[in-house]
Amino acid sequence: MRAHPAGPLHGTIAPPTAAGGPPADLGALDAHVWPRSATRVDGELHLGGRPVTELARAHGTPVFVLDEADFRGRAAEFAAAFAGADVHYASKAFLCGQVARWVAEDGLHLDACSGNELTVALAAGFPAERIALHGNNKSPAELQLAVDSGIGHVVLDSFDEIDRLVPLAAARVAAGGTPVPVLIRTTVGIEAHTHEFIATAHEDQKFGFSLATGDALAAARRVIAEPALRLTGLHSHIGSQIFDTAGFEAAAHRVVGLLGQVRDATGEVLPELNLGGGFGIAYLPDDDPVSPDDVAEKLRAVVAHECAELGLPVPRLAVEPGRAIAAPGTVTLYEVGTIKPVQLGASGAPGTPHVRNYVSVDGGMSDNIRTALYDAAYTCVLANRTSDAPPALCRVVGKHCESGDILVRDLWLPSDVQPGDLLAVAATGAYCWSMASNYNYLLKPPVVAVRDGVATEIVRRQTLADVFALDAVLADVPAAGTPRAHPAPDNSVGVRS
Ligand code: LLP
Repeated sequence: MRAHPAGPLHGTIAPPTAAGGPPADLGALDAHVWPRSATRVDGELHLGGRPVTELARAHGTPVFVLDEADFRGRAAEFAAAFAGADVHYASKAFLCGQVARWVAEDGLHLDACSGNELTVALAAGFPAERIALHGNNKSPAELQLAVDSGIGHVVLDSFDEIDRLVPLAAARVAAGGTPVPVLIRTTVGIEAHTHEFIATAHEDQKFGFSLATGDALAAARRVIAEPALRLTGLHSHIGSQIFDTAGFEAAAHRVVGLLGQVRDATGEVLPELNLGGGFGIAYLPDDDPVSPDDVAEKLRAVVAHECAELGLPVPRLAVEPGRAIAAPGTVTLYEVGTIKPVQLGASGAPGTPHVRNYVSVDGGMSDNIRTALYDAAYTCVLANRTSDAPPALCRVVGKHCESGDILVRDLWLPSDVQPGDLLAVAATGAYCWSMASNYNYLLKPPVVAVRDGVATEIVRRQTLADVFALDAVLADVPAAGTPRAHPAPDNSVGVRS
C-alpha cells in the first residue's frame, strides 16, 4: 500500500481505540514513568518541589521541566554500574551548558556527534580528553576542532574520514603533539529493536565499517599503519530504545571476535571496547526497561567470556547512554486550548467510545516530533488538579497546521478537562528539545531545572527577536507587536492568574 502522499499520519487516522480501557486512577503518577520527584500535593503535580502552576506562570508554556536529581541520579547509577568502565553521556539526547557541567562534575564522559555539540561541551568547560566525537560525515573543520582541542577519541566511521583526518593528525604530530586516539565504528550486522533483534539486515545503512565485508578489519590495519593515529579500540552501537540485552550480547560477541581478528592480523591487542548506547526507558507504565546494573553485568559477562575464548585480555569497556539518563527526568507542561469532540462514527469497534476529544495544546510537533516521526507512545496527565470526572477518550494534539501533529495518540483524561488546564507529558527529556524546530514559527520552549524547591531556567525560551535576527528582511525590525517572550510565552497566552 502506498503511504498517503503527505505521510502516513496525515490522512489516515488510526482506528478509534485507546490502548486498553481507562486506568483506575487517571491522575496516577506511575513511578516507572514520571520523574523521581513527581508527586501530587492537593491534587497538583509538583516537580522538584515546585508546583506546576507556578512553573507555568513563571516560565510560560510549553516548558520542559527537568528534575535535576533524577537526571544526575541516573547518570550516577550508570557510572556506578559500570565502575571501571567509561560511561559517555550521549549528548544528542539533550545538551546545554548546564547539562554539560553536570555531566562533567559527575565524572562521566561525553559523546558528541557534531562539531557544534563538541563546541557546546567545550564552551561549557567539559574536559576535552573525556569527549568522543562521532558522526558519519565529519567535515575537515570538525576534525580540525577535534584534533586541536585534544579530545579523547575520534570515532572513525569511513575510509574517507581516515583520509581527511590523517593530514590533520600528522600536522599535530609534526608540531610536537601526540597521535590522535581513535576508535573504529564497526557495523556488526545486528540491529536491535525494542523487543527483538534481527541479525544480518543492517549492512544497508550509513554508519560504520562493516564487519561482514572485512572493511572493519581493513580499517584497523590502515589505522594501525598510520603513525599519526593511535587505534585504541573498537566501537559498536546497535540501535536505540532497546529493552532486551540479547542484542547487546550478540553485538559484543561479534565485536570481540573482531578484536581477535585484529590481533591475529596485526599483532595489536586493542585495549578499549565501546558498546554504544540504546538502553530503553519506560515511556508507558507497562514498559519494562533493563536496569543499568543488569546491562552492566550482562555486558561484562559476555565480553569476559568471549575474551577468554580468544585468549584476549578484557578491554576497558565504554557505553554511551543518552535517553536512559536524560529522558525520564523531564516532563513537558502544556496549556490546554481548544477541545473538540470528534464523532468516530460507525467504525468504532463494539464497546469502544464513539467520540474522541481532540485536546489541543500550545506546542506540538515542533517541541516533540517523536510521535509524528516514530509513532512514539507517551503518557500524559492533567497536572494542575485531579478530577473525579469520568474518563474520556482523548488525543493530545499540537497547534501546527498538520493533522499528524499528535503528541499523545490515545489516552484517557478526565472528561472535565478544560481550556486553561495544564497537561504534563512524561519522559520528554531525550530527543524532544534537541529535535525541536520552528515549524509554523513556533518558538523553542525553555528548559527549567527543578531541585529541592528551586527552579532555574537553564535554557531560556527562544524569542521572535531571536528568529527575526536570522532573517535578511526582518533582522532590523523590532519584534514588537508580537506577544512578549518572557514571562508570557509567544506560543500561547500561557499565564494563569
Ligand atoms: N551512541 C551512538 C553512536 C548513537 O548513535 C546513539 C544514538 C547513542 C549512543 C545514544 O542512544 P540512546 O542511549 O539515547 O538510545 N532520535 C531518536 C533516537 C536516535 C538515536 C541516535 N543515536 C529517538 O528520538 O528515538
